Amino acid sequence: MTILVTGGAGYIGSHIVQGLVDRQQPVVVLDNLSTGFRHAVPPEAPLIVGEVGDEGLVSRLLSEHRIEAVMHFAASSVVPDSVTNPLGYYSNNTVSSLALLKSVVAAGIKYFVFSSTAAVYGNPDNQLVAEDQIARPMSPYGASKLMTETMLRDIASASSLKYVILRYFNVAGADPKLRTGQSTRAATHLVKVAVQAALGIRAGMDIFGTDYPTPDGTCVRDYIHVCDLVSAHIEALAYLRGGGNSATLNCGYGHGYSVRDVVDTVRRISGTDFAVAERSRRAGDPASIVADTRAIRRVLSWTPAFDNLEAIVQHALAWERKLTAQNR
Ligand code: UFG
Repeated sequence: MTILVTGGAGYIGSHIVQGLVDRQQPVVVLDNLSTGFRHAVPPEAPLIVGEVGDEGLVSRLLSEHRIEAVMHFAASSVVPDSVTNPLGYYSNNTVSSLALLKSVVAAGIKYFVFSSTAAVYGNPDNQLVAEDQIARPMSPYGASKLMTETMLRDIASASSLKYVILRYFNVAGADPKLRTGQSTRAATHLVKVAVQAALGIRAGMDIFGTDYPTPDGTCVRDYIHVCDLVSAHIEALAYLRGGGNSATLNCGYGHGYSVRDVVDTVRRISGTDFAVAERSRRAGDPASIVADTRAIRRVLSWTPAFDNLEAIVQHALAWERKLTAQNR
């Protein structure tokens, strides 16, 4: 039973595809290569280059490959970009997902795993944010994903489709075997930026905001290793295949690190004292967001293997070194 992975040439998607291949699960990738890379897709997985919003193409794919389940990653995912380009985010994330869902329902696909985000919560009132907390996104990115969640829930109650929505917290790190990783050179995510600064790929880095109401004044996030996200997806699919009801689950570890914690860890592990400038706040950033993980641990048989900031940083550093050596 084949799984269609949209966005499977991207950072998170390519790790999932690799994880499915490792478990001998047949998989087909649909990616427009706007931010993904052909080389990130393992040779065992056929790559179709095209748009998720192309209903004709998607319908053909679903029937030709006898798709049983769809894992939907294809999206734009940079919070500050969404603030300056909301139309791009609603179009790429919400409108394309609507088109995909039309094809999915028409083809009678059984299972859908959706890549959502902690950005749907906005700035939560509680220290740990649970899935039933009211979602008040602070950015078009979070809003665009929340709209897709809403469509998915409504569609599932009117059809036989079953879903798991996974709300990712801050995904970082790389495949420990270094078969894939975060390859976008101009990535803006904190761990990637800090690692690039440590390796001299950039002259230094900025900390955006030091006056937040957090212990050290910088934003707090729940960093999750990308390989633990892979196992969450594998378990989500197994759960649906086992007859589980549709569910919405946080994907994080349940404890937070500040921006300064991350910078200090990268400095220590790399042994490099790179330059850090303190800047004003970045638009769309909540002060602190950390997952309540009780639901995912209860509903799925999910046990994280890399709940350790040092391991995340080590793998991110190793991947960045490999990328740099390749590009020389
Ligand atoms: N930051 C810096 N300097 C940088 C980059 C980031 O100080 O050079 C700070 C940000 O201001 C923020 C924190 O580091 O406070 C984390 O920022 P990221 O850009 O790494 O990640 P975000 O929290 O903005 O967003 C990420 C994903 C989203 C997801 C969200 C969930 O990109 O898809 O985590 O918390 F929704």
